[in-house]
This record gives sequence, structure tokens and C-alpha cells, in this order.
Amino acid sequence: MSAVTTERQGEILVIWSDNQPVNALGHDVRLGLQAGVQEAAGDDSVKAVVIACKGRTFFAGADITEFATGMKDPGLPQVVDEIEALDKPVVAAIHGTALGGGCEVALSCHYRIAVPSAKLGLPEVKLGILPGAGGTQRLPRVIGIPAALGMMTGGDPISAKKAKEAGLVDRLASEDSLLEDALAYAREVIGTSPLPRTSERKVDGDAGMFEEFKAANARKMRGYEAPYEIISVVEETWNKPYSEGVERERAAFFKLVMSVQSAALRHVFFAERAASKIDDVPKDTRLRDIKKVGVIGAGTMGGGITMNFLSAGIPVTIVEMQQEALDRGVGVIRKNYENTAAKGRITTEQVEGAMGLLTPTLSMDDLADCDLIIEAVYESMDVKKDVFGKLDKIAKPGAILASNTSYLSIDEIAAATSRPGDVLGMHFFSPANVMKLLEIVRGAKTDKDVLATVMALSKKIRKVAVVAGVCMGFIGNRMLFPRQLEAEALLMEGATPQQIDKVHVDFGMPMGPFQMADLAGTDIGWHRDPERIESIRDALCAEGRWGQKKKAGYYDYDDKRNPTPSPRVAEILEEFRKKKGAQQHEVTDEEIVERTLYPMVSEGAKILAEGIAQRASDIDIVWIYGYGWPPYRGGPMFWADTEGAKKIVAGLEKHGLEVAPLLREKAEKGEKFTS
Ligand code: CAA
Repeated sequence: MSAVTTERQGEILVIWSDNQPVNALGHDVRLGLQAGVQEAAGDDSVKAVVIACKGRTFFAGADITEFATGMKDPGLPQVVDEIEALDKPVVAAIHGTALGGGCEVALSCHYRIAVPSAKLGLPEVKLGILPGAGGTQRLPRVIGIPAALGMMTGGDPISAKKAKEAGLVDRLASEDSLLEDALAYAREVIGTSPLPRTSERKVDGDAGMFEEFKAANARKMRGYEAPYEIISVVEETWNKPYSEGVERERAAFFKLVMSVQSAALRHVFFAERAASKIDDVPKDTRLRDIKKVGVIGAGTMGGGITMNFLSAGIPVTIVEMQQEALDRGVGVIRKNYENTAAKGRITTEQVEGAMGLLTPTLSMDDLADCDLIIEAVYESMDVKKDVFGKLDKIAKPGAILASNTSYLSIDEIAAATSRPGDVLGMHFFSPANVMKLLEIVRGAKTDKDVLATVMALSKKIRKVAVVAGVCMGFIGNRMLFPRQLEAEALLMEGATPQQIDKVHVDFGMPMGPFQMADLAGTDIGWHRDPERIESIRDALCAEGRWGQKKKAGYYDYDDKRNPTPSPRVAEILEEFRKKKGAQQHEVTDEEIVERTLYPMVSEGAKILAEGIAQRASDIDIVWIYGYGWPPYRGGPMFWADTEGAKKIVAGLEKHGLEVAPLLREKAEKGEKFTS
């Protein structure tokens, strides 16, 4: 059956798209739309047209899979121009998400009506491209240049209500009668002349607004090519005729779609969706019901974890050992919500709603009615085993028992219970209410329905979940170890923390290894003996330089936590190098990349070969959402493919560093990690 069909409703022709799941504008759909418009043009009894979609959404954009294979005619730019050129009114009936090409179809219609729950946006920038079907031309003409630049360079959709205020939507429909309302709208506008064509509108602007916009958004756009290209296209064309503007847009679209950044960002889009699939867990696995969650530990981690569930409307019982710690933890949760409300992102009713779902307690027995219990206590195997032994006696049958450990063995923890099938790791990243990544650690005995349930739940709490096997540090932290080892070795050989951090920041990371150590606390894992100084980190800790919290670590910090290079650290480094008789040499930026980033790729290859990660793209997702790896570089394994395995092997060998067998194999066969 064709993806697009037409239906007569009196004088109105309804063009229906039914291309599940998201009505992507693939070749069939474009052909169907074109045929629908031609049918309307050729039939005098048709007085108006409604374009609508079946299923859960209006067109969610171009079919992204076609970008790599090439698009067959008619292209979307041609189709949207034909819609707009029709001399009968065309109404877009919008529900779900009108994104990218979908929003451009709507913009080419003469009228737009949407249900209040709909969202509209031009998210192309997130795929490293720009709106390529007239969006850079029509959107500014409809909502003005600054607002259009904001939508196109940020990529986030806006609600139908906001779209109505901005003029992007003309009318709001009732949630449950979109078609009827769209038909009524179409009947009203029959005979309108001239028809309101967005490409014919004029837009106000001045040269200064582009520089202003760039300056205000420089931080968000750092490292990305597409937002700057979008701004250039609009800047060069806003006061030119539409036909000239779209030509410039087309050229920019083709340039960007061929770029490495766009390939990387498209990889991330599909990688994120692939990560939610567990190879040996059937899609129709019956899920356990999670109506109530228990969290053990009201510290920073426990509190952040709790907020995820409260925000999703799931009641949480939170347990602490001392009243004071419990009160402090609950106080922090409330404060976080209140701060968000003060910024206008949630209402005070929502704050109270979330807090009303929280039950603080000092008794683990109160966890007896929870369907999922997450332990977030001190990182010690003995402590964790003790907690899980107790939970085994308290939790109801079928409850899922999870540990938030960031590196300990889930199998050993599970062995402390009589129900290892119910146990798994849920490794949240700090701050747990903000960071999107959730590593789900699969123990040797974890039941499949437990995995599937937690995977589905993670979507509910808006996390991106990746399954990892049991090993020290799982996927993310395991790859940090070799990076940190080499970063510290480089310090001994003459590099400075700021030099190494700068290379990482220039690469696109939010911070470098030493800035990250200061943020986390240099004293994490320190043996606490100031006399025992075996590493630079020991030397810092012995002097109380525990990182940002002490305003001193690898850097000195002011009251606003701004870092400056520390003369004292320079002295410590000098003393330590002398003491160890370390050989010094001039460390180049290239060497820093080869010695700190290449070993991560090698470790990633080991993780893959051992089956700790299901696929290379899962490793990329962990690093993007857990550690801020720049999405436009696609994650460490995609980046390795752009560098080339051969180059990475040569770089590692040059410095006498380990080369994982799988990495060597890829180099020898000329293969990639990601497809
Ligand atoms: N092209 C091809 N496949 C797409 C797609 C697209 N535009 N959008 C979604 N899909 C696929 C997903 O890969 C997924 O496939 P699998 O089930 O095989 O994994 C399936 O559709 C369902 O998608 P989600 O799991 O993401 O479903 P969701 O309900 O969570 O989200 C959505 C729906 C909000 C529409 C989300 O899919 C999304 O954001 N899609 C991309 C939107 C986008 O970027 N559009 C712009 C495209 S570029 C463009 O349009 C260029 C232009 O100017 C012409």
C-alpha cells in the first residue's frame, strides 16, 4: 500500500501520510505528496487541501537513512515549493512532532493548525546539517530572524502554544478533533486570494543582529560547524528573494551533509536508539511493574537518583542511617527543585507535587513494598554486601535490587542475596538528576526481564541507557584509567596540567583530566596517609589540595570556582620530578592526543572484544552522555574510525603503549569499529 493516500471530504481533498513509525519524508512519501497536490490542482471540484498524518505524529523530518545513500527525485525542496504554489488553500493539520522537513512542509502550507500537545522544530543542526527544504528562508519570514536563528541553531522544538504566539501556527485545534477542525478551517479559507505564501513575505533585519546572536550563543555553538553555517545563510539571504535564498541554502546543505561532523552526529542519533536494544532480550519480554522505588542513601548520589523518579511521578522511599543526614538529603532535594522553579522551569505546584511523592525514613524495613530498590551507599564491597544481604530479607519477591556502584563487581554483590537474577547495576553519573547517561550493569545471573524492565524505566526517567558487562569500572570509568595514567606520566615528563587540559578542551571536551579530577575531588580513593607519597596526586592530597571543594587541587580556585594555574603545584611537580629522577622533554599537543586519547580507543577495543559493551556505538554513547565527549566527533570509537586504526596503532607503538588485539586487527584489515 502506498505511504500516501487521498480522501475526499466534500470540496476538500485530504492528503494522508501513513509511513510509520514517524512519517519520515522518504521517497515514497515525497512522491505521494506531489501526486496529491497534482490531483488537487487538476480537479476543479477540489477547493482546498488538508495535509495530515496517521499514527503518532505529523512528519518528523526527512528520512535520515537517505542522507548516506543519496536522495531520489523529487527532493523535498521541490515538493514544498509545489505545495506552496498550489492556487487552492492548503492547511497543515499537525499533531505529534512536526520536525525538520515536517516543519518545512507545514511552513509551505498556506495555513497551519495544530493540537496543543504538538511540537514544532527544526532540529537539523543536531544532525550537523541545516534545514534543507526552504526552512532557512521561510522560518525567519514567519517568526522573525532572532527567533528563527534560535530555533535553527539550538534545534529544540517549541510547543504548539508557543508556536501560535510566535505566528508559526495560525490556530490551535481541540486535542481530539484535529481533522474536523482542520476541515472547518479549510472550508473557511476557500476562495481566499491572494493566498498567504510564506516565501513571499518580507522580514525585518539589520546586520548587527547576526554578530549579536553569535556572541550570545558562542558557548553553546563551540566546535560545531552547522550553527555557524545556518547563521551565514540567513545573514547573506534574508533581504534577497526566496529563489536566491534557497539556492544558497541548498549549497550549504550539500556541503554540511558530506561533512565528518554530520556523519558523526547522525551516527550518534542511531547509536542512541541502538543502545536501547539488548541483543538476546526479545522485544516482547514481559516487564515487571515498577510503581514504587526505594533508594538507600540520601547523599549527593542518592538524592540525585531520587529526583529522577519523583520528576517522573514515581513515589520514592529514601533511607538514611541518621536523622540529620536524612534531613540534609531531603533538604537538598527540595532546594534543587526550588532553584529550578525560581528559574521558571517548573511551577511551585510541581515542586510540591514531587516532594509529596517522597517518603523519608530511617528504617530499611520500609522498603518492603518497593518494586525497585537502588543502593547508593559508600563504595566498599563489604558495605554493599551487607546492604544486599539485608535487602534480601526485606524486599518483596520479584523486586529488582540495583547497586549504583561505579566499578565494583555486580556478581559479587548479587551473591550476597538468594536471588541474583533480580540484581543488576544502575550506574548513574553525577549530578544524577542532570546527567543523561545510565550504565545498566548486567550480572552473570541477571534475569532478562529485569534488564528489559530497567531499560524501559530509564526511558521514563529520561535517561539514555547503555548495557555494560561486569568488569572494573564497566565501560566509562574503565576507559578513564589509561587516560589518567598517561596524563600523570606526561606531568612527570614536563607537561603542565593546564597544557594537557587545554588539548582536551580544544578537542571539544567540557574539561580536561585535571579539571575533572579537581571537580570530583582529588582525594577520591586516596589512602589518607600524608606520609606515603607515591604519586603527584598523593603529594597534592597530603597538602590538603583536594580539588574545587578546598579551592585548591591541580589548580587554585577563587570563590566562584574559576581556576588559575597554581605556582604551588608547579613547585610540587618540580620537586616530584627531581625526586623520581624523571626524564624531561618538550611535550607537544600531538603527543598529548596520542598518549591520552589513543589509549582510550585501545581500552574500548578490549571492552568490545570482551563483550563488556554490545557494540562500538554503545561505547560512544557512554562517553557522549556520561563524560561530555563532543557529539560532533561521534564518540571515541567513531572518532577512532575517522583517525584510522592504522594511525592509532602507530601512535601507541611510538610511545610504547599497549595495543589491543582487536584494534591491531582492525588496522591490519583496514576495518572500522562503527559502520
Ligand atoms: N528518519 C529515519 N528514521 C527515523 C527518523 C527520521 N527522520 N526519525 C525517527 N526514526 C526512526 C528511529 O531511528 C527509530 O527506529 P528504530 O525503532 O528502528 O530504532 C524509530 O524511527 C522511532 O524513533 P524514536 O525511537 O526516536 O521514537 P520516539 O517516539 O522516541 O521519538 C521523534 C520520535 C521525536 C520523532 C524522534 O524520532 C526524532 O527526534 N526524530 C528525528 C527528527 C529529526 O531530526 N528530523 C529532522 C530530519 S533532517 C531533515 O528533515 C532535513 C531537511 O531539512 C529536509
